[in-house]
Amino acid sequence: MNQWPTWLPLRQDLRELSAYGAPQVPATAVLNTNENPYPLTSEISQAIAAKVLAIAATLNRYPDRDVNVVRAKLAQFINNLSHTDFTEKNIWAANGSNEIIQSLFMAFGSGSALGFTPSYSMHSLIAKVTGVTWINGSRREDFTLDSEMALQQIQREKPAITFITTPNNPTGSAVTISELEKIARATPGLLIIDEAYAEFSEEVSAVSLIKKYPHVVVIRTMSKAFAFAGVRLGYLVADTAVIDAMYLVRLPYHLSSLTQAAAEVALDHQDQLLVNVAQLRANRELVAESLQNLGLTVVPSAANFLLFTGFSQPASQLWKDLLDKGVLIRDVGLLGYLRVTIGNEAENQKFIEALSACLGEK
Ligand SMILES: Cc1ncc(COP(=O)(O)O)c(C=O)c1O
Repeated sequence: MNQWPTWLPLRQDLRELSAYGAPQVPATAVLNTNENPYPLTSEISQAIAAKVLAIAATLNRYPDRDVNVVRAKLAQFINNLSHTDFTEKNIWAANGSNEIIQSLFMAFGSGSALGFTPSYSMHSLIAKVTGVTWINGSRREDFTLDSEMALQQIQREKPAITFITTPNNPTGSAVTISELEKIARATPGLLIIDEAYAEFSEEVSAVSLIKKYPHVVVIRTMSKAFAFAGVRLGYLVADTAVIDAMYLVRLPYHLSSLTQAAAEVALDHQDQLLVNVAQLRANRELVAESLQNLGLTVVPSAANFLLFTGFSQPASQLWKDLLDKGVLIRDVGLLGYLRVTIGNEAENQKFIEALSACLGEK
């Protein structure tokens, strides 16, 4: 924990927190933050460059404050995917889904928030930073979500906000739409479904629940399947009342003209950007098989990463040994487990070879 100087008037409730800190260090295989490993094609990167050039002279002006074009394109994307009829009035966009999560806490965080851990660490961290009490709900031993158990916890705690991440990070397990509906039916407050990895899963998106259950909010991102993490574009799909509340808490002009320009081009080339999703899913199965062949146990995953266990050295030691061999994966703080993002073919091979060597060296 940080030793803060006594003169610094830092909020008492922040003093005990640690900042988000996935290591950003050089490595041959970077498999630690669930990015898409495939670079943009030159067609898309040139289209982005052309669009940025076209608007560059107008950067003396503020951007479109309401992000109308991008929101309309995102509504179209979701409608094509889920046979819904959302408009831009059902979409909010921000700098990554992290900013979306922060805005949700700022608007709706009067009371507590509940999430089922282990899950995405930023849910609880952003809750605490925005002054919202965080409650750790529990999962089954195998990390899957038991909807009955979840409902009991929700009804006992009556949180203002409940989070369900599906597929879940860092475990990879997904929740079916019928289980989500069962939970939505009996959840007070807002039910936020974080679908950051939805494109890698076969499950139906929870956006299909929003018409019937207007307290359901679905968070998505272009950082993962869209291979667009560097742009920072996350969004939510919700009833228009939720979007109206977002206008209250957003900072004016929060999405830069450059971000909006890049996102517009990406959404115009969505098929090309998403083309590697099938490959990543197939590679996920190959990596899982290789891990099993090394005698390890892999948690079944519907995302672009795998959580594995069964090694005898401490996770932090194996993580370091792998980094020494040029492979950066993630120690998510779960005793005896490590998480690896699915990379390109060369990275996956490098990971398995390095891991095999580390296991042999112990
Ligand atoms: C479940 C989940 N939600 C949200 C995010 C945040 O993504 P971004 O802010 O890049 O949209 C992540 C990132 O890893 C995640 O795993």
